[in-house]
Amino acid sequence: MTTILLTGGAGFIGSNLVRMIAGQGGYRIVVFDALTYAGNIENLDGVIDGSSVVFVHGSINNAELVHATMEQYDVDVVMHLAAESHVDRSIVSAAPFIETNVTGTLVLLEAARTFGVRRFLHVSTDEVYGTLGPDDAPFSEQSPLDPTSPYAASKASSDLLVMSFVRTHGIDAVITRCSNNYGPYQFPEKFIPLMTLNAIEQRPLPVYGDGRQVRDWLHVDDHCRGLLLALEKGGTGEVYNLGGFGERTNIDVAHEILRHTDGHHSLIEHVTDRKAHDRRYAINATKAQTTLGWVPTWSFDDGLKATVEWYQQHRSWCDHVRSGEYRSFYQQHYHRTL
Ligand code: NAD
Ligand code: DAU
Repeated sequence: MTTILLTGGAGFIGSNLVRMIAGQGGYRIVVFDALTYAGNIENLDGVIDGSSVVFVHGSINNAELVHATMEQYDVDVVMHLAAESHVDRSIVSAAPFIETNVTGTLVLLEAARTFGVRRFLHVSTDEVYGTLGPDDAPFSEQSPLDPTSPYAASKASSDLLVMSFVRTHGIDAVITRCSNNYGPYQFPEKFIPLMTLNAIEQRPLPVYGDGRQVRDWLHVDDHCRGLLLALEKGGTGEVYNLGGFGERTNIDVAHEILRHTDGHHSLIEHVTDRKAHDRRYAINATKAQTTLGWVPTWSFDDGLKATVEWYQQHRSWCDHVRSGEYRSFYQQHYHRTL
């Protein structure tokens, strides 16, 4: 049986991916996660069984532990999702992004090379391409790297490190670059869960600037299927863009969430814009469609409705993850009542 070392498996995308792979069978999964504010072991409730899914608590920056884990479980492949992932936090403080996203990725690459893993799947983002104007063609894999935020710069750096290990050391790595995900277990500092909870709780929905920025929304299940296909069928040293064909302005999504929650549209509050806010992301996913056979199945309308229902039904999870560090970070830096 193939053993996957899956970093960041207690986070949003990682926990959905672990659930999907465990449900399908055929792999042993070693979840490796530092459990930062964004990682919750509860996201894996009912999945960790100590044999086909095991959990190792630790940081990818701990080279000794990474090596020991690869040896102990005789790891075949790495799916690397662990990251600091929130743009706003990277604007407040970039150092943790360099530490985890760049140095941590380097630690994993060195371990993968030394141990001789068969394949390294690096989960990246469309933000490495920068921003688009309203009439620009969507990002393709050939688009130049032009990151805006410290988060995006850290992800672009990690992509370049991965490519350098393919070229220099001959490791077998594949990179995916995905658009904005949404779905269950997304930490409620990101746009869709934040707006949903505020709408449910009848608190203001803080829309940055004019709210006309565009994101291309992809359901997390579709992303996870794309990651498995890239792991199984992707070419060495290849990059695959994954997008949802779901371009929407933020203000339209906020209104849609208010419709699903019977919230009053006057709850929308335009607040100070994000610094250097990328105006539009859009993805050309033709390569993944034609070479991996990947097609997203969720429509944004159905996916958003199901996601809002999930948050309505999981209020205690929301209260749990919104306590502590999360609350104090936003009060200190954004002066928001949460
Ligand atoms: P997330 O913030 O929800 O989860 C990140 C996970 O990584 C958490 O469980 C956290 O505990 C863990 N982690 C952080 N630092 C760590 C460290 N040093 N060692 C071990 N674990 C650590 O993130 P997400 O939204 O699930 O994103 C997962 C990956 O997908 C990231 O690499 C991100 O850049 C990428 N991505 C996300 C999106 C999106 O829309 N969410 C889109 C494209 C790409
Ligand atoms: O495109 C992929 C990226 O998508 C991932 O790499 C990142 O990890 C992920 O966080 C996401 O980045 P964004 O910055 O696009 O996502 P976020 O949910 O933070 O914001 C989405 C849009 O909503 C963006 O235009 C900013 C806006 N926004 C966000 C927040 C948190 C608001 O208007 N108000 C808010 O309070």
